Amino acid sequence: MKDVLKGKNVLIGVTASIAAYKSALLVREFVKAGANVKVIMTKASKEFITPLTLSTLSKNPVHSKFSTGEEGVWNSHVDLGIWADFMIVAPVTANTLGKMANGLADNLLVATYLSGRCPIYFAPAMDLDMYKHPTTNENVRKLKSFGDIFIESNFGELASGLFGEGRMAEPVEIVDFISKHLSQDLALQGKKVLITAGPTYEAIDPVRYIGNHSSGKMGFELAAECSLQGAEVTLITGPTSQKIDGLNVRRVDVTSAEEMFNAVHDDFSNVDIGIFSAAVADYKPKFVATEKIKKVDSSMNIELEPTDDILASVGEIKKDQFLVGFALETENELDNAKGKLQRKNLDFIVLNSLKDSGAGFKHDTNKITIVDSAGKIANFDLKTKKEVAADIVAAIITRL
Ligand code: CTP
Repeated sequence: MKDVLKGKNVLIGVTASIAAYKSALLVREFVKAGANVKVIMTKASKEFITPLTLSTLSKNPVHSKFSTGEEGVWNSHVDLGIWADFMIVAPVTANTLGKMANGLADNLLVATYLSGRCPIYFAPAMDLDMYKHPTTNENVRKLKSFGDIFIESNFGELASGLFGEGRMAEPVEIVDFISKHLSQDLALQGKKVLITAGPTYEAIDPVRYIGNHSSGKMGFELAAECSLQGAEVTLITGPTSQKIDGLNVRRVDVTSAEEMFNAVHDDFSNVDIGIFSAAVADYKPKFVATEKIKKVDSSMNIELEPTDDILASVGEIKKDQFLVGFALETENELDNAKGKLQRKNLDFIVLNSLKDSGAGFKHDTNKITIVDSAGKIANFDLKTKKEVAADIVAAIITRL
């Protein structure tokens, strides 16, 4: 895939964020992939990483001023913009984002951005509150509306010590994303995908719940794969320790089946594809105690009532959406899966059998069978969940 970068002219814009230290790795990754790299730095970014580091790694002088230093010789932002096959501004600060969105060309980087005719990618890095600020959202929206390509930030520890979204995507992720994008094999470009993942917790009282062992890993791998294929992903997840390092993924955290139901219905009418990998509780306590239930000497019963079946509910209202469900079975696997496929009005169902060792909740691997609405059955080998996600997404793409 990275072959696509061979011989490409890549212009990397670096702005004044602590994440600028990652620019060295980004330059290195592109050079390793055979690209020709030139770097433009803003003046303030030199406080974070030296031009010498980036010029040595890129094997080209670093550009940061409108003139070269020689009298009467300008550093042509127009030439740089024309030279580039694509430009990636990483890290882009809230400040430069604002300048790009509003055409404030008071430095070489933004002037080159405005004169570039090539695809422009941008990967923000900022503190979580700046990242969430409506101004930032609006500027990202504006750049996207100009056709620029957003490489979403990751969740994690930030320079401030706070945890949240705003960490620049890792250099390898950026290079992967751009390679796929350029390979034109972004089969889900322009598609909106909704994915459910993880378990749900059904409250018994303020401190106890009914849950299950789902790790959420399968759903998170699916979200990462869909986003790498260019989709805009909404990942609705129950409680999990998983982190999403996929790009262009909007994560919605929920706890109970009811919250997941509502979050799914908020979005479902806008999506093209729904993948329902969550292990939703089938039952919940009929009454949730408002105070912690005290221990008594006798046995106790908790009355349960069914939760709403989220997948079946969207199966009933679906129009053109492509719908994928999961079935975890221990017996009569194929018949049960086919029954769910029909009952829930799915395009295909992914069957995991707990009889297969290495499959199911607690493993990093999975062994699946895909049964589609035309009756076609495809068996897959035991693979990592990342590979399984790629198989599932490929199966969706061939049927779209
Ligand atoms: N599902 C859902 N909402 C529920 C229950 C299940 O969206 N309340 C979805 C799951 O995410 C999965 C599929 O439905 O994609 C199959 O779930 P499963 O629990 O196996 O199916 P059930 O019809 O509940 O059958 P059973 O539990 O009897 O096997």
